Amino acid sequence: MSTYSYKDLILFGEGLKVYFSLARSLTEVLTFKKGRNVRAVDGVNIYLPRNKVTCLVGESGCGKTTLGRSIIGLIRPTEGRIYYKPSKELEELMEKEGVPKREGFYDITDVSGKIYKLLRRELQIVFQDPYGSLNPRMTVKEILEEPLIIHGIGESEDERLEMVIKALTDVKLTPPEEFLNLYPFQLSGGQRQRVNIARALILGAKVVVADEPVSMLDVSIRAEILKLMLDLKENRDLTYLFITHDLAVASIICDYINIMYLGKIVERGPTDEVIKNPKHPYTQALLVAVPQPDPKGRWVIKEVPIKGEVPSAINIPPGCRFHPRCLYAMDICQREEPPEYLVGKDHYSACWLHKEKK
Ligand SMILES: Nc1ncnc2c1ncn2[C@@H]1O[C@H](COP(=O)(O)OP(=O)(O)OP(=O)(O)O)[C@@H](O)[C@H]1O
Ligand code: SF4
Ligand SMILES: [Mg+2]
Repeated sequence: MSTYSYKDLILFGEGLKVYFSLARSLTEVLTFKKGRNVRAVDGVNIYLPRNKVTCLVGESGCGKTTLGRSIIGLIRPTEGRIYYKPSKELEELMEKEGVPKREGFYDITDVSGKIYKLLRRELQIVFQDPYGSLNPRMTVKEILEEPLIIHGIGESEDERLEMVIKALTDVKLTPPEEFLNLYPFQLSGGQRQRVNIARALILGAKVVVADEPVSMLDVSIRAEILKLMLDLKENRDLTYLFITHDLAVASIICDYINIMYLGKIVERGPTDEVIKNPKHPYTQALLVAVPQPDPKGRWVIKEVPIKGEVPSAINIPPGCRFHPRCLYAMDICQREEPPEYLVGKDHYSACWLHKEKK
């Protein structure tokens, strides 16, 4: 079920699963055992309201990147469907090709060929690592021109250059002419991330998955990059899925929050609701871990009320997958997976505690 009215959304995914099969070990082969799967995403519904920032928050390895990549078509989900409301140009082509529809959205899960190529323009990603994600042997101009060439945009080199200059100006790398012939190693971390953002937007992106875009940057430039991204969102009617492990960053920039644990979204809703009134024990524990000032203005980090370590995504606990670490676990939690309960306005939490209270 959707948290939001469909008319407010630009993209959503339902029942999404992404499993990676692992190569069988020698013992498994000799004992005729089946290979094992990494259940990176394990039954997720995700909704992206248009022109809003939706965050995906969770610990390392919980499946954030895999989910982000799957909703923009970079990884094909094992199960589930992804629906998108495209630009006019793409919509005409989808209509012509008979792409299946639901509630005015097109099912993009299995598209290929020309439609897939046009989708790639509209659904983009900004990677975490501003260092590793730029080709060190290409200049800034070449990096930004490459997607234009691949997609056959721009009649001439001059026309493409104009687009590259505009893209650099948009991400505030000015004067743009000074950056065109630089290589990535000649840029600072913040400048590289600006080039990454420019590359994501140069083809006219509508939805951007921003995968921990500031986590590898110096604290001093994080705020600048976040502000740039928010300004671009307003100016270009962008929609973000913002991936972060940092609930403090999420609470500042996101309109909606999804808390992910071991392949599942355990709590979701408007940011204010989730931060001020967290309902799921995992969200409550994550919030305790956010440093807070004490009455004397000193920053205090409290001990997180969770037991043990995150289990492996190869061996997900039965019932509520959080139960081995949860301080409130009950018998039912070990046996049955909790459904999502509506716990506030547009606010959902998947925990058996809410049933007990009814
Ligand atoms: N191509 C792959 N093959 C096998 N396992 C994978 C693959 N990609 C990811 N995984 C596994 O899937 C799970 C989720 O990984 P993912 O990178 O999506 O997590 P994440 O939340 O983005 O983590 P991080 O915060 O460290 O970036 C992890 O257990 C990871 O080891
Ligand atoms: S369902 Fe049970 S184990 Fe899971 S979070 Fe709720 S109380 Fe804890
Ligand atoms: Mg990741």
